[in-house]
Amino acid sequence: MAAYDLIAAEYYSEVKHGACRNFRQASETLVKAMIDIQPEDKVLEVGAGMSFAAPLMKEQNLSLSNLCLADSSDGMLSHSEKWRAEGATLLLSAAEAIPLADKSINIVISLMGDPYNNPLFWLEMSRVLSSQGQIIMTVPAYQWNRLHGDGQQAIFTTEKGKRVSVPSFVFEYQQQVMMVERVGFLLEEYCLFSKGELQGKVSKAFVSTDDDQAIVEAYLFQKAT
Ligand SMILES: C[S@@+](CC[C@H](N)C(=O)[O-])C[C@H]1O[C@@H](n2cnc3c(N)ncnc32)[C@H](O)[C@@H]1O
Repeated sequence: MAAYDLIAAEYYSEVKHGACRNFRQASETLVKAMIDIQPEDKVLEVGAGMSFAAPLMKEQNLSLSNLCLADSSDGMLSHSEKWRAEGATLLLSAAEAIPLADKSINIVISLMGDPYNNPLFWLEMSRVLSSQGQIIMTVPAYQWNRLHGDGQQAIFTTEKGKRVSVPSFVFEYQQQVMMVERVGFLLEEYCLFSKGELQGKVSKAFVSTDDDQAIVEAYLFQKAT
């Protein structure tokens, strides 16, 4: 059982996991501004949970048969079940071993990809992406994360009070870029989302965060060859 299966049922609960909702809003805003999906693009969303790419592609009248949604947690992937009927392919799969052919994808999208932000994952992305393919990933902002975590794990407290630890790898900018460029990518764009940009209710996880402090970072890389 994947660690996220223990929290999958309540991950999108507005009441309990406000920080997840705030991270999601920040990630959606950044990714929408940074990527441009074309009708012929083959798109892979990794760690999809409740897919971001599917509703976006539908809104843009793009065929969901060009979309694969991968997640290692059955419970998290089930939040995207409805997109199967619209043509998307759902893959219960580790991000580090995606069952897709070499160079078969043009765009990879990963919202809050810190659980699998490791060298093996980036190597796998360089395998599945075509030449000049792009990958965008959001992660919790490094400075915020350092005040609230250790850069290796995140702790969720469930509605029943159980503490669940999940992997969470968050690196300082230079280290992140070096890890990814080492396997054949080039950084194209880097953007931040600050707490003050949040709309609606702000989670208590950000109570001690200043409005101008970043809570989410987005990295857009392009495969060099
Ligand atoms: C922080 S959640 C983000 C979910 C979704 N992208 C969102 O923003 O709402 C991380 C997701 O990555 C998935 N995940 C964690 N480790 C993974 C791995 N090694 N391979 C694939 N998916 C993984 C989890 O099951 C979960 O759905």
